[in-house]
Amino acid sequence: MTDHIYWKDGSLNVLDQRELPFKKVYIRCKGLVDVAKAITNMTVRGAPLIGIVAAYGVALGIGEVVKSKGHCSQPDLDRICKRLQGTRPTAVNLAWALERMKDAFKKNVDESNVLEVITEEAISIHVKDIENNRMLSLYGAELIDDGDTILTHCNAGALATGGYGTALGVIRAAHESGKRIKVLATETRPYMQGARLTVWELSQEGIPVELIPDNHVGLLSSNKGISKVIVGADRIALNGDTANKIGTYMIALCAHQFRIPFYVAAPVSTFDNHIESGVYIPIEERDGKEVKYLQGKLLTVKDVKARYYSFDVTPARFITNFITEKGIIERPFRKYIKMLFS
Ligand code: MRU
Repeated sequence: MTDHIYWKDGSLNVLDQRELPFKKVYIRCKGLVDVAKAITNMTVRGAPLIGIVAAYGVALGIGEVVKSKGHCSQPDLDRICKRLQGTRPTAVNLAWALERMKDAFKKNVDESNVLEVITEEAISIHVKDIENNRMLSLYGAELIDDGDTILTHCNAGALATGGYGTALGVIRAAHESGKRIKVLATETRPYMQGARLTVWELSQEGIPVELIPDNHVGLLSSNKGISKVIVGADRIALNGDTANKIGTYMIALCAHQFRIPFYVAAPVSTFDNHIESGVYIPIEERDGKEVKYLQGKLLTVKDVKARYYSFDVTPARFITNFITEKGIIERPFRKYIKMLFS
């Protein structure tokens, strides 16, 4: 499942995830503004994918400047990156990808082929993400036992990444290795990443999956209905505190209460070595309208105020292990997370 994003004839084509699983519609991003819009309005979503799309956005932005002025300067690049950085605040993969693009620009600013080099850099971020997912998934699959029922929240699959996925990558790899597993996918209100995207991805590959409303996690944790939890992440602090889709914290509390292993699968680009703990992670608050309406249909009293925090932070003490492309991270988290950057 890697056809959800591709670069062709100088444009970025992305599968519109708002339309899944009902329609496969592609949006063609021809410039910086198209890309920024696609991230903000969640045409594309998922931390690693946001980073990849932003990297292509930098290439498109530079291309526009070169076309109009003949040369892209450092202030032009700063303006492009600022526009992309402002799209969604929580996933650190966005800032990480922009840094990579800035470095590539700095090294090649005076070269006649700067645009080509920058585009290659975006493609290499994309390709490397798929490789990293496959690698972390192989490590993660070792933690899965034959017969497991695995709960996942939101969508940390191919759709949320360059391809293959993180939490769903681990599940894919376990399935591919012949382990008989079943997945429980939470609906993930209000955007319904679980119901619309995770269920779709897994069904396409014949991986057994059952959909549950978000509020079933307490009951199923208490009656042995879940043997493991695997989720993705949007930003992981040095101490292991982890931002992920709103509701993850509640799931981690249930897992802790009933001694269910709780794994976070994420590439190194999701770790933020600039922050000591989760209190420094910016939490995106989206428009309450997204809670009040589902697929354009009003679900409640029209004028009620609604709140929508897109992410929460799970304290490190509720996390059993992190699964990365460099291996499984054990306690003490701070020591081993720091080593990812050395
Ligand atoms: O709001 P979204 O859909 O971008 O949130 C996505 C998540 O929370 C994912 O779990 C996370 O980005 C990891 S994706 C590999």
